[in-house]
Amino acid sequence: MNSDKHTRFSPGCLHGAVIAFCIALVIGGCGKQADDGPILIKFPHVTAPATPKGQAAERFKEIVEARLAGRVVVEVYPSGQLMSDDDSLDALVFGEVQMIAVSLSKLDRLTHRFQIFDLPFLFPDLATVERFQASPEGSVLLDAMVDKGILGLAFWHNGMKQFGGPVPMRSPMAAEGLKFRIMESDVLQAQVLQIGGNPQKMAFGEVYQALQTGAVDAQENTWSNMYSSKFYEVQDYLTETNHGYLGYLVAVNPDFWNSLPDDIRGELDDIVKEVAAWANEQSLIIDMEGRAKIIESGVSEVVTLTPDELTDWQDAMRPVWQKFEGNIGAELIAAALAARQSGAN
Ligand code: SIN
Repeated sequence: MNSDKHTRFSPGCLHGAVIAFCIALVIGGCGKQADDGPILIKFPHVTAPATPKGQAAERFKEIVEARLAGRVVVEVYPSGQLMSDDDSLDALVFGEVQMIAVSLSKLDRLTHRFQIFDLPFLFPDLATVERFQASPEGSVLLDAMVDKGILGLAFWHNGMKQFGGPVPMRSPMAAEGLKFRIMESDVLQAQVLQIGGNPQKMAFGEVYQALQTGAVDAQENTWSNMYSSKFYEVQDYLTETNHGYLGYLVAVNPDFWNSLPDDIRGELDDIVKEVAAWANEQSLIIDMEGRAKIIESGVSEVVTLTPDELTDWQDAMRPVWQKFEGNIGAELIAAALAARQSGAN
């Protein structure tokens, strides 16, 4: 094993040396591996262990530590216990952590290409997203941020998003004047403004308290996130709109990745892909379990829409597409529409 190569700092790390040093004080090691020890992959994420991402991260650890026993160790830090998503993007670039799985929406500050995943009602279901991600236009997105120190290895699903709030949202008019927590995405901001709401970008770890204290009234998320992070306990109504997609880019620092011995990198790449296939099968099951448990709890009411109500929502949000077409690129939107069309055939 060439331990020397994968201990060195990336140029990004040197560039952000002060911030990197501070993070290093907190989590230790600044990404260095012991010269004679196994390669360490620190993998922080923000959701609970029982979520699609939590389970996929644990499975990745189990398989890696079985197949690369003694050579690679994976430390998974769930529930934001190590850092927020925003901080994890910086930590990856600086070499403080070696793997992340950040929501695609939160990549907005690094590239506009991923805005496609936030366009409301573009992807009707996870199968359509998967066809798009596997297309030539979709798969090239894995490399969209290599120049920024982030290399995508795979996409993992969480699920489709629903709206939660103090009122049933049968019509977009019900959203008027409500303060919505959103992820750090300009498309999601435009989406909420489009329906007359007041968007507030906020880290995932702050959402429960913000809902509880009334700092925000409403939010959008998947069933599994709303169940595992208990958002349903502080929301009277959850309206089943399936208006948007929540998924992840599983990413590494390209300097770290390329410094790994070839056989280890090849095995890790195989495992990431194997886990992605497994995770994408599990995500819908886990999401539906969350939905069933929320209904069973009776704490908040799940509202389902009629086809006409759903059409009203789609019509109300459609102008958001035009606002971001220029950023995203017409060819990417065309590829997503082709994935949708091929599912309809
Ligand atoms: C996640 O699923 O990783 C968090 C999404 C959010 O911030 O709402």
